[in-house]
Amino acid sequence: MKDWIGGKNSIYTAIGASNHTKKERQNDDYYATEPKAAELLLQQEQFHHTIWECACGGGHLAKVFQKAGHEVIATDLVYRGYGDPEPLNFLEETLEDFEGDIITNPPYKYALEFIQRALDSVKPGRKVAMFLKLTFLEGKKRKEFYQKTPPRTVYVSSSRLNCAMNGDFDTYKSNNAICYAWFVWVKGYQGNTIIKWIN
Ligand SMILES: C[S@@+](CC[C@H](N)C(=O)[O-])C[C@H]1O[C@@H](n2cnc3c(N)ncnc32)[C@H](O)[C@@H]1O
Repeated sequence: MKDWIGGKNSIYTAIGASNHTKKERQNDDYYATEPKAAELLLQQEQFHHTIWECACGGGHLAKVFQKAGHEVIATDLVYRGYGDPEPLNFLEETLEDFEGDIITNPPYKYALEFIQRALDSVKPGRKVAMFLKLTFLEGKKRKEFYQKTPPRTVYVSSSRLNCAMNGDFDTYKSNNAICYAWFVWVKGYQGNTIIKWIN
């Protein structure tokens, strides 16, 4: 198993028990993101050379980051033919001394937990970018979270991007009824959130 800088030591540190079994998490949480979403994000934001795609699925986002010259660490709870074959439960394990940024489209049911875990896993000043439904702005629990931990920028996708169940874009290509956005945190940022419109 490689660590994030390419060594062979065991990298994963258990960071607490979870109520959720691996089996539960494998339920239909795999919705691949149209790679264009990653291209649009890279046009707007600069990221650390090393990016951790911590719920990489089939690598639809990770491949774009790699192509753009980033070193990408790609992990997932379920190996889907891309990235590290060793499952990594992001809510229970982390990479030691990780210096880079985290970018993913998280499993929606655990999105808030993923954001919190990602912010805990990066250094101050580093970035966490999450591809989420725009409606993730709503909700009392989220409002409390945003008040303490505001994203620096929310990039709204004004023409719709697709997410396809099981990575099957042929079947789900017209399923673009949902508005998505990139939510970008800079760890430690306490100012107002800026909203921008992309594509
Ligand atoms: C919405 S899909 C997105 C896949 C990929 N990020 C993309 O954008 O194409 C969410 C992914 O999260 C993974 N996942 C769910 N729970 C996880 C966990 N606790 N730790 C790591 N990955 C998890 C699923 O296996 C699935 O591949």
